[in-house]
Formats: sequence, C-alpha cells, structure tokens
Amino acid sequence: MPNVKPLEISEAYLADPFPKLAEMREHDPVHWSPTLDTWIVTRFEDVRQLFSDPRMSRDRKLSKLYTPPKPGTWAHRFDSESFANMDPQEHRRLRNNIAAGFKPKAVARMEQQVRDVVEQFAAPLRGQTDRVDLVSAFTSPIPNTVIGRITGIPPYPGDEERFCDLAQDVIRRFVWFADSETRERGERALDELAEWVGKLADERRHQRQEDLVSDLIHTDEEATGMTNDEIVMLVASLVAAGSETTTLGATTALRLLFENPEQFDRLRANPKLARNAVHETLRFDFGAATGGIARFASEDVPLRGKVIRKGDMVMLSSAAAHRDPERFPNPNQFDITREPGESLAFGHGAHYCIGSNLALQEITFILEAALDFLPASTRLRSDEIEWETIGLMRRPSTLPVSFT
Ligand code: HEM
Repeated sequence: MPNVKPLEISEAYLADPFPKLAEMREHDPVHWSPTLDTWIVTRFEDVRQLFSDPRMSRDRKLSKLYTPPKPGTWAHRFDSESFANMDPQEHRRLRNNIAAGFKPKAVARMEQQVRDVVEQFAAPLRGQTDRVDLVSAFTSPIPNTVIGRITGIPPYPGDEERFCDLAQDVIRRFVWFADSETRERGERALDELAEWVGKLADERRHQRQEDLVSDLIHTDEEATGMTNDEIVMLVASLVAAGSETTTLGATTALRLLFENPEQFDRLRANPKLARNAVHETLRFDFGAATGGIARFASEDVPLRGKVIRKGDMVMLSSAAAHRDPERFPNPNQFDITREPGESLAFGHGAHYCIGSNLALQEITFILEAALDFLPASTRLRSDEIEWETIGLMRRPSTLPVSFT
C-alpha cells in the first residue's frame, strides 16, 4: 500500500480537496490526521455503515477536542439537552414530533408557500441588465425566509435581515475546527435567537396561530405539548440545520451549471431535469473540504485494520463517498442526467435529515426560477467570487453574474 501522507489543511487542499480524498479512499480509507486529531472515513460502504452504527455518537461532549461553551448560555444547554444529542429513545420521541411536519405530504402542502417566496426574490431579477450577486439577492434570503414562514420567526415585520444574520451565525457554532472567535459569535447568535423564540412561544401559548410553534405547543393531547425550552432548542436546530445548508446547495448548483455550460444548456432545453440537477449537485460537490459529518466513538471500533479508539472523532466524508467509483461510474463527471443513486448527502439512519424533502423542493424551485430570469448570455464572474472558509468548510459567499 503506498504511503499516504497525513491530511493537512492548506489553501490548495481547500480549493480542490478531491484528489487527496481520492488518494485516501483508494489507499488509506480509514485515515488518521494527526493535525486535525480525527479519523477520516472515505469509502461509500464504510461511511454509510458508520452513520447508523450505535457506537458512533453525535454527542460532541465525548470528544477530546470539545470546548464547552460558557455555562448559562443557550449553547451550553444545547450541547447537553438538544434532541440531536439525546439518547436514542428520547431522540425518537422528539424527532417524531417534528418530522411529521416535514413528510412529503406536508411538504407538498407547503409547495405554494415555497413558490411564493422564490417568486418574491426572482421577480426583481427579471429583465436585469446589470450585474447581480446571486447569493445576496437570491440563494441566501430564500431558505431563511422559508424557514421563517414555517417556524413563524422572525415574529415581527422588519426583523428579517437580523434573522438572516443570526441564521448565518448560528451555524458557525456547529462547524468543526472553526476558530474560537467564530464559535463565540455563533454562541451569541444562538442566545439572541433563543430569546426571540422564547418570547414567541409565550405569545403562542396564549394565542394560537397557523405556525409550527403553535402546533408544537397546542398538541391534541395537552400532556404532550412541548415546553418553551424544548421549543427553543428545536427551532434553533431547524434554523441551524435548514437555512445555510440549503443556501449552499442552491449556490453550488448554480455555480456548477455556470462552470459546465453544456449541462446548463441541457437543463435549459429540458427544465424537467432540475430536480436531477439538484441530486447531482449534492453528490458532486457539497462545499466542505472533507464533506463530512462528525461522530465520536463511544467504544473502540475496529475498521479495515485500524482501531478507532473510544473518544476519537471520526469525519464521515460523504464528499469522498459520493466520488467512490465502486458506487458511481465516472464519479468526477458532473452529469445532470445521471440516475440519482443512493445518496448520503442527507445522512443515513436515526439522524437522517428531517428537512430533505423541503430542501430538495426549495432548490429545485430556485433552479427553475433561475432558468426563467437568467438569459443564456449570463456569465459567472468566477474570478470575483468571494470564498469564505469556516473550519473545514469553504463556500462561495458571493456569486457575481453579469447579464449581458
Ligand atoms: C441541502 C440542504 C440540506 C442538507 C445537505 C442537509 C444535510 C443534513 C445531514 C447530513 C444531516 C444528518 C446529520 C447527522 O447525521 O449528524 C441532517 C440532519 C438534520 N437536518 Fe438537514 N440538510 C439540509 C436541509 C435541511 C432543512 C431545510 C431542514 C429543516 C427545515 C433540515 C433539518 C435537519 C434536522 C432537524 C436534522 C437533525 C435530525 C436528527 O438529528 O434527527 N435540514 N441534515
């Protein structure tokens, strides 16, 4: 077996992690990085299996790398009490409460709402002749507004912009290897968001409305209604998990289409391929350098001749798994006509993404609307894209296009 150098994070790696991920997948599929103090697992079968392995916990407190937030903050409570970190039985109970709201039927009911939000941001872009940043004008505000409509937050008109900023900051606290300043910014945002949600829950307790917070409080059997604190943590999870991820998915889909004009032409010729193009985007490139989800071993786990020790962190690299040639023929080809195979983009097992149907619907509508307002002559100004790196995540924070 060739000697695989330990993974180091460099500018070059962040710009194009795929050659190194391929090397690891082929020659050292359970790779130890001493710099990151984590294992990186890269083969599809292994990633899939570890996602649902009960010895692989989501509880970040098990990790040696964990820095506890200040006691008394919502971040501190989040790490101890959030449903994402609960034992499987409690997790299932709370997850069922919320997952019912995101099943395909429920999402189909939201369809018009999502279309309206997409149209709200697409309308001003029709007939543009100038340059536009598609992130700030289009792919960023849509998922934030959708999650806002669903949860009923922000509760008061005029708070939308602050809500977008908070949503962007909240997710920073969940990105591994982010610096301490970024993490603390995320913790402050979580506190502010929690205060809003708490107030809203108080109001909805007295006066029910047509939103998720009301539904969670006023259940059919009074006894199972959720407490304000449970609601705060759940809604914060939705905001953290559902806004920036969808923005990144939509932004990446548009970027890849501009970078692969023959694929863009195919989509223009057959807009029905939009949903397929979304699946292919999430397979081909989902923004993170290891493209991974973290787990922590709750006991020793032997795998492919290595032993992952209790307390070790493991990055399950779906980015590498999605380029595994054992699973995807011609994996380095971005091809929107590819039959979508099994995907790990939304995870697998007990924590499988609750919002996957909503996310797929939103990004599909975003692409359909973009086909309508972007004339074929639109050019992406690739050299002017601003890239942001948070921990191991590198993403475009702008997508400037000129319409001529
Ligand atoms: C392209 C967009 C999205 C991607 C790629 C994505 C990806 C993921 C992944 C990989 C997980 C599993 C995490 C793990 O196993 O540790 C997850 C969980 C989750 N996602 Fe998403 N997600 C997206 C959009 C959304 C949306 C729109 C919502 C909600 C409105 C959402 C809500 C959640 C929640 C609540 C969980 C935690 C589930 C649990 O722990 O049981 N996500 N997501």
